[in-house]
Amino acid sequence: MRKPMANFNEIKSRKIKLKKYLQECGEDLSRTAVLVFANREKLRNHDVHYPFRQDTNFYYLTGFEEPDSVFLYRPNAEKETTLFVRDKDPERETWDGFRYGVHDTRVEFKVDSTYSLKDLESVMPSLLVDRDVLYYSLFHSEEDDEIVKRIVTEVRFRSGRSGKGNMIIKDPYTALGEMRIIKSEFEIDALRKAADISCEAHIELMKSMHVGVGEKFLHGLFLKEIMQRGAQREGYGSIMATGPNATTLHYVFNDMICQEGDLFLVDAGAEYNYYTGDVTRTYPVNGRFTRHQVRLYDSVLQIQKSLIEMVKPGMTLKEIGDTAIEQLTELMVEENLLKGNVKELITQQAYRKYYPHGIGHWLGSDVHDAGKYKIKDESRKLEPGMVFTIEPGIYIPLDDSFAPEELKGIGIRIEDNILVTPEGHENLTLKAPKEVSDLETIIGSKS
Ligand code: GLY
Ligand code: MN
Ligand code: MN
Repeated sequence: MRKPMANFNEIKSRKIKLKKYLQECGEDLSRTAVLVFANREKLRNHDVHYPFRQDTNFYYLTGFEEPDSVFLYRPNAEKETTLFVRDKDPERETWDGFRYGVHDTRVEFKVDSTYSLKDLESVMPSLLVDRDVLYYSLFHSEEDDEIVKRIVTEVRFRSGRSGKGNMIIKDPYTALGEMRIIKSEFEIDALRKAADISCEAHIELMKSMHVGVGEKFLHGLFLKEIMQRGAQREGYGSIMATGPNATTLHYVFNDMICQEGDLFLVDAGAEYNYYTGDVTRTYPVNGRFTRHQVRLYDSVLQIQKSLIEMVKPGMTLKEIGDTAIEQLTELMVEENLLKGNVKELITQQAYRKYYPHGIGHWLGSDVHDAGKYKIKDESRKLEPGMVFTIEPGIYIPLDDSFAPEELKGIGIRIEDNILVTPEGHENLTLKAPKEVSDLETIIGSKS
């Protein structure tokens, strides 16, 4: 039997948090239920599936990794937690691998009751007849929405001539996002591990970098290095971008050869136990920055470091983002990428030509993690336990007719993962070198 890798004390505490949150939202707990569907397997081609990765909210509440499952939470019921799962099936398990089945899921995943998925639509209505409000996130899956439609309709039929309409459906994503935004000690440890693994793999890439190496090879090497260290997968599609490819923000092809004189931008993170790193480094393929490259790179680095220094409780991502815009716009003027008055250029958002993304995002189980960015229209204040990225960048397209010749085709981004602490912050990804002298020492040292 496979051993669950989830921490069930942590999962128990999440359900207590959810209960508290629903209560704070004014829900009558005894009349409220939360329904979350697992991801389904998706066909890639013919009879081959994409590698399966569980839905984040489903995993967050259950720790259960099997596809197609359904989780129902009924606060204050005699049996609060229910999982509907695939039956054991020796033949299918011979082909596709182990399944826990109805009995062992209940024991191993510490839920109050389990049923076969086959009984989902016959059993679920009886578990919902005493509930008026259903937290379920519509419009992610037509198939799931259809099931919920039939279940909710059946619940109404079973209420008889009571004068009651359908259950009220509300989206649980906001609640779960608010729970996920402040990381627990357990989650911080997982993020720390994901960050460490990511940094170590970045170092291995730096060591193996040389003129003539392929982006594909480097992608493969990154996967090997993170998996060797216990990561399950990359947290998002890695970006291995040499030369002008780095000016495409989410470059996906990863199939070119690193050339003499290129800068290489790698944005890649390990996912460890459902928490991910998100790290970007930029450095020269041949191990030596040119005069123009180093001027621009070091400017972005100094900006990034000054932004990280701003992080402390009470600060906002907006203040950090506005400072980034100011400093990057000044740099663009110094480098003759933009002409004019810095304040006016900011008002006109002229900087977006070379810096079109935001300064960062919440980081956790999803690379762009859940949680509100604004509270009542105001940028939210940072609190201890929040984790986010700081990733200023500058991207000058190869065909930009306005840019100085020597800067065309350069893309630079430097990205770290920052934990807000009571005293200020901790950079979780400090281990991946980013100082010019450190990079120039390490690049190519293994090739
Ligand atoms: N890796 C995606 C991002 O940095 O947002
Ligand atoms: Mn990022
Ligand atoms: Mn990134």
